[in-house]
Amino acid sequence: MGQMKISVIGCGYLGAVHAACMASLGHEVVGVDVDAAKVAALASGRPPFYETGLEELLGQTLPSGRLSFTTDVTAVAGADVHFVCVGTPQRADSYAADLSYLDAAFRALVPHVAPGALVVGKSTVPVGTAERLADELAAVQPDATVVWNPEFLREGYAVQDTLHPDRLVLGVPGGDAGERAVKILDDLYAAPIAEGSPRLVMDRATAELVKVAANSFLATKISFINAMAELCEVAGADVTSLADAIGLDERIGRRFLNAGLGFGGGCLPKDIRAFMARAEELHADPAVSFLREIDSINTRRRERMVHLTVGVLDGRPLAGARIAVLGAAFKPESDDVRDSPALDVAVRLHERSAHVVVTDPRALANARRKAPSLQYAETVEEAADGADAVLVLTEWRQYRELDPHRLLGVVAHPRVVDGRNALDPAAWRDAGWTYRALGRR
Ligand code: UDX
Repeated sequence: MGQMKISVIGCGYLGAVHAACMASLGHEVVGVDVDAAKVAALASGRPPFYETGLEELLGQTLPSGRLSFTTDVTAVAGADVHFVCVGTPQRADSYAADLSYLDAAFRALVPHVAPGALVVGKSTVPVGTAERLADELAAVQPDATVVWNPEFLREGYAVQDTLHPDRLVLGVPGGDAGERAVKILDDLYAAPIAEGSPRLVMDRATAELVKVAANSFLATKISFINAMAELCEVAGADVTSLADAIGLDERIGRRFLNAGLGFGGGCLPKDIRAFMARAEELHADPAVSFLREIDSINTRRRERMVHLTVGVLDGRPLAGARIAVLGAAFKPESDDVRDSPALDVAVRLHERSAHVVVTDPRALANARRKAPSLQYAETVEEAADGADAVLVLTEWRQYRELDPHRLLGVVAHPRVVDGRNALDPAAWRDAGWTYRALGRR
């Protein structure tokens, strides 16, 4: 495997992991970010966010001298491959993706791209972006090539997903430039390809669409089972048994059929919205209009959780009730609170004058920044102290494995609402708790 010189522009959840993983594959990597604090943290081996295995990987790769981080974009000069990994969040004024970070990063990068180099986009973008960037690059550096290589990593498994991807998608231009780009990336990704990761070559527009199509499908799966949960609630049925039963059909599959509070995070919600916005621009909005329903099923779950909480209080008003919220991260094994269903529910309860105390094993600092008006506690016991109801809103292992007997002496009233279908209802009811869950009796 040839060692290559690589730059990674944007060192957030995606770029920082990508940079460390590429260094661990033997490449010489410089990571660039405009945020000096982030760069300083990464350069000293401290990830600015929690991601399983990243700190260890930085600890292994930084001393080798093959990995460095800087705010100085001129450091990318001479790289064979430039990865663009900046965020494309939802715009404040519409559903569309905000491409301002991407455009700024690209424009800063272009003057330093050498003839023959590849500019490889990993960010999730509206279809057509790669062609536009390719035209911009060609005007300055006609001998360089833009490739789109979407990233499918899941937070919490990002290192694993980057080093052992379930597929590598290469969106390349036609002709010799495309063939040459594939050869270079085959060499760069030689280790995962040798391990058996399928590598798919396609045009750039298809590669861009693969990413949003994949996330739209996952979001649809989650909202489908949550729609079934709504029906189970009115019919007195159990959505977890339903999911187990339909999931045994291999064509359906059990994964991503966990009903509950629904999806959040930095990807699924904004990706389906950006997809709708882009489809509208292309006059193809009917093709993805179902995503509007997927989105609204998803957000309905949050309000339903508030109703369940009111219901479990046995007539006591929500205003002034002490509510312990277990979980602030959008999912376990992450400190990310972007569009977190858990934090959203906590805020909704607080806005209705409940006394909300939130705890989370990893996400407290981010949650405090995002929702400073809420009260926070370091431990479950502290959060649940004197609680009128306990809400499980992120299914961290330590919450799934909570001993219902242990909390009995802590709370004021043993009432639990399971927003993630993460607890064993029988165990909690046997211990004397009133148990309620989304999509279950
Ligand atoms: C997602 C995609 O999985 C990944 O491939 C893509 O690259 C980025 O977006 P991520 O945002 O890290 O990854 O989280 P994911 O594990 O997909 O979970 C997304 C949300 O869906 C979480 O809030 C999670 O709690 C929720 N979810 C997931 C469910 O509500 N039910 C499920 O069955 C699965």
